[in-house]
Amino acid sequence: MKIIDGKTLAENLRKNIANEVKQYSRPPGLAVLLVGDDQASQVYVRNKSRACVEVGFYSDQIHKSANITQEELLSEVQRLNENNNIDGILVQLPLPSHIDANEIIEAIIPEKDVDGFSSENVGKLSLNKPFISPCTPKGVIKMLDSIKCDLRGKDCVIIGASNIVGRPMAMEFLNAGATVQVCHKETKDIKQKTKSADIIVAAAGVANLVNSEWVKEGAVIIDVGINRLEDGSMTGDVDFDDVKDTVSAISPVPGGVGPMTIAVLLENTLTAYQAKL
Ligand code: GUN
Repeated sequence: MKIIDGKTLAENLRKNIANEVKQYSRPPGLAVLLVGDDQASQVYVRNKSRACVEVGFYSDQIHKSANITQEELLSEVQRLNENNNIDGILVQLPLPSHIDANEIIEAIIPEKDVDGFSSENVGKLSLNKPFISPCTPKGVIKMLDSIKCDLRGKDCVIIGASNIVGRPMAMEFLNAGATVQVCHKETKDIKQKTKSADIIVAAAGVANLVNSEWVKEGAVIIDVGINRLEDGSMTGDVDFDDVKDTVSAISPVPGGVGPMTIAVLLENTLTAYQAKL
């Protein structure tokens, strides 16, 4: 059984990015916009900003109060769209419920949409002509590449159909020549589907949802879950100890998908920067 070491993969990706940045006189710039006081979001935003500085990017962290209006937030995005030192804009999700998140995402110009969430960038990925693609699914593909997992003809089952992970993950798999099923809240008997999968991506946000009864011998599992248990520890969507003797490879939580997502965000920012040159 192989452990897919996202932490080390991400370190290598960051090293390559840092090396590439050295040749430029102006650093790539990433603006991260956080609205409100969500604890988890604050941690993610801090980690993203820190990773930026480490690879030699310029990082602008903007924190707005939870009662910001739609118009104020739109003008903040507009200001960043026009700022020549900013190559990437990330609005941390979720946004407060009075904010129309979709309108905010669409307000970011696609050239600076380093999350790849705008309809233009989603459309390009869907047409297999990617420009900037969502970080987590792109990171998952890199993790599978790292264990030389050939995706052509593979049966992939994704648990979760979010715009951030499940949907773009389906497109990445399709573009790589795999056959894809996306399971969600309305899906009948998810276990029966994962049981025949060559590759399972678990992104449901339910601690220890996937156990050995869900998994075929020799399957590969990527665990996208980040769940906080009552004792403060972090766990994925997969019961690691229960499946470890069944799978051929699995990504751990922590140290799997999380660090890869951030490294790909840096890569996307570099792509946005280079496209502007
Ligand atoms: N919230 C959870 N994951 C993400 C992500 O990848 N990007 C943004 N902007 N917000 C998130």
